[in-house]
Amino acid sequence: MAVLVTGGAGYIGSHMTYALCDRGEQVVVLDNLSTGLRELVCPEAVFVEGSVADPNVLRRIFDRFAINAVIHFAGSVVVPESVDNPTKYYRNNFTASAELVSACLEHGIGNMIFSSTAAVYGVPAVTKVQENVATDPINPYGRSKLMTEWLLSDVGRAHPFRYAALRYFNVAGADPKGRTGQSTPNATHLIKRACQVALSQLPEMEIFGTDYPTPDGTGVRDYIHVADLISAHLLALDYLRKGGESAVFNVGYGHGFSVNEVIAAAKKVTGLPIPVRQSGRRKGDPAMLVADSARIKDLLGWQPQYDDLETIIKTAFDWERASGSRARLNGARDGN
Ligand code: UFG
Repeated sequence: MAVLVTGGAGYIGSHMTYALCDRGEQVVVLDNLSTGLRELVCPEAVFVEGSVADPNVLRRIFDRFAINAVIHFAGSVVVPESVDNPTKYYRNNFTASAELVSACLEHGIGNMIFSSTAAVYGVPAVTKVQENVATDPINPYGRSKLMTEWLLSDVGRAHPFRYAALRYFNVAGADPKGRTGQSTPNATHLIKRACQVALSQLPEMEIFGTDYPTPDGTGVRDYIHVADLISAHLLALDYLRKGGESAVFNVGYGHGFSVNEVIAAAKKVTGLPIPVRQSGRRKGDPAMLVADSARIKDLLGWQPQYDDLETIIKTAFDWERASGSRARLNGARDGN
């Protein structure tokens, strides 16, 4: 039996693929390489280049491999881009997911783990968000992900189909073994950017908003190490395989750091200067998002191993530095 990982050449999907291969699972990766990179895919996995929205590609995969679960990462993830280009987000995050779910139903595949997001909560009125607070996303990214959650819930009521939707908070860091990391070109995420500025790959950091109703005026997020997010997926997969009911889980540590605190930690970890410039608020950003993750701890026994901001930054920085060296080496080899 095999697991299909959509978006397995991307940041989180590539970590997932390594983790599945590490525990001896057969993995098929489907990725259109629009933002993913072929070289991030674990060599033991089967790689198929194609789109989740293409029923022919899905049919070929489901006919050829004995897939018994799908972990669905493929999608678009940049909040401000979703505000400027909403149709891209509804297409890549919702329509494509509907195609994938239809193909699963056609082939009798009844287990799916879906990459959802804390962005479904919008601007929560509470400091720590539980899964049962009202969802009210404030950007097309969050809305397109929430629509897919609704789709899954409706499909689960109509068919023998169970799912776990994991609402990620701010995922950062890289594989502690250094095999993969955040490599998306022009990535906009705070910790990735801070590492790039420390390495002088970018001239300076912009701080988006210093007038939020937070202790230091900058945005507060719950940063979670990608390896802990992946262990949450493995537990969710085992849970569904054992017949667990469909469920939605927050995945975060339950404490937040401001942009200023993250940049200060990045300076400390890297020992390098990180010049900053204060800018206005970025489109679609809430002031604060912090998880209450009691449900996943209680129901799935999730126990984070990397709950430390400096460790998160250190693994992200190590990956960034190693990728820079690899790029320079390849450039030298190609005569560039
Ligand atoms: N920020 C800066 N400067 C930067 C980048 C980010 O000040 O160069 C700030 C943002 O304004 C925000 C915080 O840092 O306050 C975090 O921003 P990120 O871009 O790193 O992450 P987001 O919070 O926008 O979004 C991420 C994921 C989403 C997920 C969301 C949930 O991209 O998929 O976290 O909180 F839904």
